[in-house]
Amino acid sequence: MEITREAPAAAPGAPGYDLYELDAELWDGVLLDLFGNDDLGQSPLRRWAESTAPRVTRHQLVVARENGVVLGVALLELPQLDNRHIAFLSVAVRPEHRRRGVGGALFDEAAALAAEEGRHDLQAWTWDRLVEPGAGTISAAQGDGAIDPTSDGAAFLLSRGFTLAQVDLMSGLTLQAQAELEQLAAETRSAVTARYSLVQWRGDTPERWIEDAAALQVAMSTDIPTGTADLRPELVDPDRVRSEDRRRREGGLDELVTAVEHDGRLVAFTRVIHDPSRPEIADQWDTLVLGAHRGNGLGLLIKTASHATLRATWPRIRRLITGNASENSWMLAINRRLGYRPVAASGWFTRKDPGHGTE
Ligand SMILES: CC(C)(COP(=O)(O)OP(=O)(O)OC[C@H]1O[C@@H](n2cnc3c(N)ncnc32)[C@H](O)[C@@H]1OP(=O)(O)O)[C@@H](O)C(=O)NCCC(=O)NCCS
Repeated sequence: MEITREAPAAAPGAPGYDLYELDAELWDGVLLDLFGNDDLGQSPLRRWAESTAPRVTRHQLVVARENGVVLGVALLELPQLDNRHIAFLSVAVRPEHRRRGVGGALFDEAAALAAEEGRHDLQAWTWDRLVEPGAGTISAAQGDGAIDPTSDGAAFLLSRGFTLAQVDLMSGLTLQAQAELEQLAAETRSAVTARYSLVQWRGDTPERWIEDAAALQVAMSTDIPTGTADLRPELVDPDRVRSEDRRRREGGLDELVTAVEHDGRLVAFTRVIHDPSRPEIADQWDTLVLGAHRGNGLGLLIKTASHATLRATWPRIRRLITGNASENSWMLAINRRLGYRPVAASGWFTRKDPGHGTE
């Protein structure tokens, strides 16, 4: 077996793009095995597009080959503007080649590469079935989520010295009839004071809102629960918002943002991301209400307003998927009220190199 380091493909279809295709195929396979569908999957284009703003995040790949056949791939994501102590890692091996040391070899090389880059905090995710906390499961310090430590991903990461930092709960929603969504949005609107107004856009962030969108992104990185993971505030300026819009477009993704304006500034937002290659499903991503404006019904307002406009935006849409920290009871309660039901768990694992406990 040969282990090599490789740079990300320069363009879709260029040399190395097949590694993103394999990575997406293997992760879709994990989802199909666990849940019978790949609703939570990401297209190769979407994964690759994350590599196209190296000022923000650099990708490095580690590849295992035997007789010219790729057996598995590790992808390292190296943040460049902030969180420069972290390397985000994913390792995936073809099912027929598992349990013969391929994953371990990919991990060793990826960990060495991360250390050379000065990254001493490795962070990785797994997809997991929903399990009740109790004997035979593991939980993070906060939240009531649990993970089965014997699943492939968790067993592998635990064997490599990782610990569980957080359990995310993935929830799915089948969109109700349009009339019902509109009624819910109208009721929610009438319960919120008129000093707040709704703002919506599709695609790139309008220049009018770019500063506010940057501030909301920063708040997103400081205000949401991150378990015991050492995630530090993100540095987001208007240029980064523009470059993330461009990355999203290069990944073939569309976006609908629903926000709330108060005194000329945005104070809350929720983003829905849609991949036309999976036309029936969309991801409800970041949702945030700035601290000073919490308790005014804005979380429910933006979500109901967003749900009521989804069909007009993407006529084939039927389902939404979202993820929340299992300790984020406020957001989970809103989601449950909207009809979201838990479908999966995701374990967030971290490993700090000895000797670099706080860096
Ligand atoms: C996790 C994964 C990468 C492991 O790849 P692999 O080639 O089977 O890994 P290795 O053979 O090098 O195993 C390394 C160690 O992991 C542990 N391990 C891996 N799979 C395991 C399982 N199903 N049950 C128990 N332990 C397991 C063992 O300690 C193993 O050592 P051993 O084989 O000496 O017992 C592979 O199962 C996979 O691609 N899974 C889907 C993607 C994923 O979940 N990735 C991990 C999160 S980033």
